[in-house]
Amino acid sequence: MYKQLIRPILFWFDPEKVHYFTFSAVRLASRIPCFSSLFKSIYGVDDKRLEREVFGLKFKNPVGLAAGFDKDAKLYKELSDFGFGFIEIGTLTPKGQEGNPKIRLFRLKEDSAIINRMGFNNGGVEEAVIRLKKNNGVLIGGNIGKNKVTANEDAVKDYQICFEALYDYVDYFVVNVSSPNTPNLRELQDKEPLTKLLQTLQDMNMAKNSTEEGKKPKPVLLKIAPDLTDEQLLDIIAIVKETKIAGVIATNTTISREGLQSVNKIEMGGLSGKPLTKRSTEVIRFLSQKSGNAFPIIGVGGIHSAEDAIEKLEAGASLVQLYTGFIYEGPALIKAINKKILEKL
Ligand code: FNR
Repeated sequence: MYKQLIRPILFWFDPEKVHYFTFSAVRLASRIPCFSSLFKSIYGVDDKRLEREVFGLKFKNPVGLAAGFDKDAKLYKELSDFGFGFIEIGTLTPKGQEGNPKIRLFRLKEDSAIINRMGFNNGGVEEAVIRLKKNNGVLIGGNIGKNKVTANEDAVKDYQICFEALYDYVDYFVVNVSSPNTPNLRELQDKEPLTKLLQTLQDMNMAKNSTEEGKKPKPVLLKIAPDLTDEQLLDIIAIVKETKIAGVIATNTTISREGLQSVNKIEMGGLSGKPLTKRSTEVIRFLSQKSGNAFPIIGVGGIHSAEDAIEKLEAGASLVQLYTGFIYEGPALIKAINKKILEKL
């Protein structure tokens, strides 16, 4: 029904307006008392064999929602009713910010893709914390970044503020240094600043563990761009091992425009969806093989079918995430992936 009826209507309108409209519609529908159980029964796959234990956390299934969809933690409960095993909120920054001027989100229908240059539009970390205090059992990843006005030299402070604020309310952290839409952010992926950033967060993490009773360190993951060279990926492996962070999310959107059909391809921003499928799987395979499976990887980028997800799992991912595939294929994709995983057992 989604692809035949709902998507054609939604795709008539401006993508960002549709995003907010869909949020309101889902929230409205959720007020109907049976919404949660109805959606769970349509889209959920309840099966113990789908459970995964990764970096010390128990996931009810390995299919998650990628960062950027529910930046402000406004809809994580309802989204989890669609069958996701975990929801990643953010990217959150210390202070709320508007993001880049509109129009900043483009559909590339011929390519089953999206280009976005949102620029970390979000209401700030404190507002998200208020909403997360109401969480009742959804496994949440907290994706954190820096404000646009913060210079790269001061970036560590921004990540620390977000880390501290979210610590009690998320299950794992994601350090996002790979968005192409905040000027110079990707420079933080270089060896020296990245090691310093991750080590500082890990030190905070360990200090919490030793000073605050009953607190365990939270898994910290690094989200990387698909545009890194092999040499840079080898650096990433070394940094993950040195700082002992829990794992890597591969990948964010790409700045490449190779092989696109669409007229919108010249828009600035990060490209996601089908054109990213192959490259993000390559990055996962490279990290997994070259590190000797030394750390877990969450695979994301162009998953539009159950087969795409299986390919990422076989390349070395322990979990997968969706964004653009969720927009193009609808919530049935989550169920299809979980069913395929069960079939493959
Ligand atoms: C994103 N993505 C993203 N990632 C991130 O770490 N923080 C963010 O705020 C956002 N925001 C965002 C907005 C929009 C509109 C899109 C399409 C994507 C990247 C996303 O989480 C994912 O890594 C990529 O989109 C690749 O996966 P898909 O979309 O091909 O499944």
